[in-house]
Amino acid sequence: MTNIFKANHENIIKAAEVIKSGKLVGMPTETVYGLGANAFDANAVAKIYQAKNRPSFNPLISHIAEIDMIKEIGIADERFFVLANQFWPGPLTMVIQRTNPKLDLACAGLNTTTVRMPKHKVAMDLIKASGVPIVAPSANLSTTISPTTAEHVYESLGNRVDMILDGGACNVGLESTIIDLTTNKVVLLRAGGLEVEKLEEFLNQKIVNAKSNPEAPSSPGQMLKHYAPNKQLRINVITPCCDEFYIGFGDMNCHLNLSKTKNLLEASANLFAYLRVADKNLEYNKISIAPIPLNGLGLAINDRLERAKNSD
Ligand code: TXA
Ligand code: MG
Repeated sequence: MTNIFKANHENIIKAAEVIKSGKLVGMPTETVYGLGANAFDANAVAKIYQAKNRPSFNPLISHIAEIDMIKEIGIADERFFVLANQFWPGPLTMVIQRTNPKLDLACAGLNTTTVRMPKHKVAMDLIKASGVPIVAPSANLSTTISPTTAEHVYESLGNRVDMILDGGACNVGLESTIIDLTTNKVVLLRAGGLEVEKLEEFLNQKIVNAKSNPEAPSSPGQMLKHYAPNKQLRINVITPCCDEFYIGFGDMNCHLNLSKTKNLLEASANLFAYLRVADKNLEYNKISIAPIPLNGLGLAINDRLERAKNSD
């Protein structure tokens, strides 16, 4: 018996009750499945860190369903509203100054916080029915591959989650793009489901990449090993070895192809699920993956692979 429930109206209302009673819900978003709890309930938030084995210095994103909820979280400036208006709901997370002390644990004590509005009807309905912001990291054990289906959540966390809402496979497949708005620059903390080019074009300015800028604000989670399969992973591979499960990109011979037509959205949506298949395969004891271009969503794909390969 699993704790997976179809995400219909009745079960979303049930899940909202679970959230309100201080328990954990696995919920679909357009990026990856989240492990949700009431952001204002420190006991519930503590359960997230515990269920994931997540270091408590690594803060969580608050998910909101109405822009007005921001008042209960932090101080948003004009840039925030302009960006929210353009890209929300969607895979963009913004770091702002925090005001609410109830978010102490969710923010790991930082005086800043992250917020996003997910582009997924189930997530939005759940937040609205709960009446509070929902903090949700990816619903997997810390350092492992992020979940893009309800089954992945169950495989990773089992009954550590009180209820999992099944809303089908995530259509973006990579976590949100995180930008920091706490200085007068816009700083990229994590490449993700919203292409940096789209942000730069809209803002008509270059975004500073925290990775290549030691003086820029940083993100605790970006220091960590992450997305790691159990098997050894090589990236940018053109000629795979005979003991490697080969994940391809473009028109080529391989075991699984992220996108035959080199469509980066398709590749993103497939990435984590394919890494899981490769990891479970009994015939090959290693994994290799073809080169993925660094533009658009390719930036986020390469970021995830770089950190996944450091697992050995
Ligand atoms: O797409 C997503 O963002 C998914 C779905 C479920 O919404 N969530 C997600 O959460 O990826 P998580 O916890 O796996 O990643 C959140 C990242 C972490 O790397 C964390 O360190 C960073 O956001 N973060 C959270 N609060 C921060 C803050 N105040 N300043 C800098 N980084 C922060
Ligand atoms: Mg994560």
